[in-house]
Amino acid sequence: MRDSVSFYLNGVKKTVSGENLFLPLSSYLRYETQLTGTKVVCAEGDCGACTVMLAKWKPESAVKVTASPYIGINSCIAMTFAMDGANLVTVEGLKENNELCEVQCSMVRNFGGQCGFCTPGFVMAITNMFEHKKNPTEQNAKNYLTGNLCRCTGYQPIIKSALDVDIAKHNTLNKKYPLKPVSQMTEGVLVKTAFAEYFAPVTIEEACKYKSENPECTIFSGATDLGVQFNKGHIRPKKILSLHLIPEMYVSSVSEKVVIVGARVTLSELQKLIEKEVPSLDRFLNIFASPQIKNSATLVGNLANASPIADTTPAMMSLDAKVTVYGLKGSRSMPLKDFYVGYKKLNLQQDEIITSVTFKVPPTDHIFENYKVSQRRDLDISTVNASFNFKIENKKVSFARISLGGVGATTLRMTEVEDKISNVAIDSQWVSNTKKLLMDSVKPLTDVRGQADYRKILVGNLFEKFAAENLLGKN
Ligand SMILES: Cc1cc2nc3c(=O)[nH]c(=O)nc-3n(C[C@H](O)[C@H](O)[C@H](O)COP(=O)(O)OP(=O)(O)OC[C@H]3O[C@@H](n4cnc5c(N)ncnc54)[C@H](O)[C@@H]3O)c2cc1C
Ligand code: FES
Ligand code: FES
Repeated sequence: MRDSVSFYLNGVKKTVSGENLFLPLSSYLRYETQLTGTKVVCAEGDCGACTVMLAKWKPESAVKVTASPYIGINSCIAMTFAMDGANLVTVEGLKENNELCEVQCSMVRNFGGQCGFCTPGFVMAITNMFEHKKNPTEQNAKNYLTGNLCRCTGYQPIIKSALDVDIAKHNTLNKKYPLKPVSQMTEGVLVKTAFAEYFAPVTIEEACKYKSENPECTIFSGATDLGVQFNKGHIRPKKILSLHLIPEMYVSSVSEKVVIVGARVTLSELQKLIEKEVPSLDRFLNIFASPQIKNSATLVGNLANASPIADTTPAMMSLDAKVTVYGLKGSRSMPLKDFYVGYKKLNLQQDEIITSVTFKVPPTDHIFENYKVSQRRDLDISTVNASFNFKIENKKVSFARISLGGVGATTLRMTEVEDKISNVAIDSQWVSNTKKLLMDSVKPLTDVRGQADYRKILVGNLFEKFAAENLLGKN
């Protein structure tokens, strides 16, 4: 068993042990290695100032979905222990022969910075784009910069800088920092300090045993929920369990129209996996958080966090997704709708961990759409979200799945409404009736994101939009 974690930082090997492992990565970089180019503004994944490029360690069996292993992440909510086996590049690592790199030069040429505080984050986000797009469009630049905020320059010069990079002069990180392997990655990690414990086993059985013997332990995955709780809620778990060394957690496949997504598969990887088979889900994930967040956040983490406004839950519920969990007695699967038993309460035993989520690709004669209403379009949390999966035959609904988030203690499957609206002729009266049925079936709460009545209206309007765009006058 290892008692430290090793990784490459700008090409140089680092081995970290003890308390430093429990630091947010940005704190480790700034205070332990004096790499202060990485800035921290919000400390909750919202502004991108802390963006670094990371090639995570993955087992040989993991499917490689991106051309370059380097992806941009928010270092403020990533934990240092999660760097195990990784190759990490900070803004300091971009320099070429001690001069600014081409992305930085482009920012200078195009007046992309004023106070400069956000600039390293933007430079890293643009670097992330060129790692994955050779000839980016303006829309690509806007998408890759969704997770970065600038308070003084304004975005136009920054977008211009991103598009003015001379690709002939730009060295990708894939070329500049070819992956260096860290040895002993088949060995687990156990670190105990006076304040906290970190355990990363190599088998599911060890993970379940640890979880059953340590009921207070927290599983850390992408840490996009837990990292925010760490920084803003000052929640310091005493025992941390990481599943990153367990190869089975990286399963990701589409075979015979069945999609399997392992617990360590990120939302960016999920997008790549299903972009052709389930394009409407791919499109919907474009308005989930930012590239940096999706490069860390997992589908399983989003479902396990059990927030009633989680954005993937309605989609997974209307696709009849199944959750597979593994415990000391072996594995079991259940429909996602039975996984939530109350506000943030899961049908999960003390010894069990979620290993994967499985769902079927919607058949081509199904209409599957997802919606989200938030106070701003990008990088915001939903007030209400909804997913509809319908089949229409002879101008009647022959298959209906409706899931709604933000209107109850958990994401809801509207089974009674689905039954009532099926096999009835689709016309404007049917739309009004369905809208009323849905609005009458939910009892939302009032909170900072919206009043109860507003949420009810949103539910009705989202269905009306879905019906107008997909059902009325069709089939
Ligand atoms: C800036 C920002 C924007 C965001 N935007 C959105 C958004 O648009 N829509 C949205 O829905 N969410 C959003 N989120 C929330 C977050 O990104 C998601 O909930 C994410 O999918 C969580 O995944 P993770 O891997 O980071 O989970 P973690 O934070 O690592 O864990 C989340 C929870 O899941 C549990 N868990 C993880 N893996 C397992 C497992 N294998 N078995 C059992 N339990 C497990 C953890 O113990 C924890 O309780 C946002 C977060 C941030 C910081
Ligand atoms: S400091 Fe704002 S995203 Fe990290
Ligand atoms: S240049 Fe000042 S915040 Fe962007």
